[in-house]
Amino acid sequence: MIGIGSDHAGFELKSRVIKHLKERGVDIKDYGVYNEDSVDYPDCAVPVCEAVLSGECERGILICGTGIGISIAANKINGIRAALCGDVFSAAMAKEHNDANVICLGGRVVGHELAYMIVDTWLSRDYLGGKHAVRVAKIHALEK
Ligand code: RB5
Repeated sequence: MIGIGSDHAGFELKSRVIKHLKERGVDIKDYGVYNEDSVDYPDCAVPVCEAVLSGECERGILICGTGIGISIAANKINGIRAALCGDVFSAAMAKEHNDANVICLGGRVVGHELAYMIVDTWLSRDYLGGKHAVRVAKIHALEK
């Protein structure tokens, strides 16, 4: 199960990404928002991050206008490694090297076709571990 959430500025891209992933047979749970009424992006990050941390969702996708605010908020939550990606190479590395359990997109930055490629790439890659595990452990050490 993949969790997805957005603020008002990410709502349109979220709707498109949900449709795209459903067509590809991906199980996806929408944590809102459900319209374009103005909201605060930190509030939108929390439900998806909690679902990832509880194991309800394997990974999460978060979208705001730039992807910046919602990624900053998500990365304040212990255990979340949220990667803001605007290109396919970064999406691949975000999983392989950083074991990013959340990916963030800018709904006002990336076009929907590029967003599909970014999400598909991130979902298709596996964490490589090894020397990267030492680095990810050091990220977690910063949380204490
Ligand atoms: C909302 O206007 C906008 O500030 C938000 O979606 C996001 O881009 C913040 O980083």
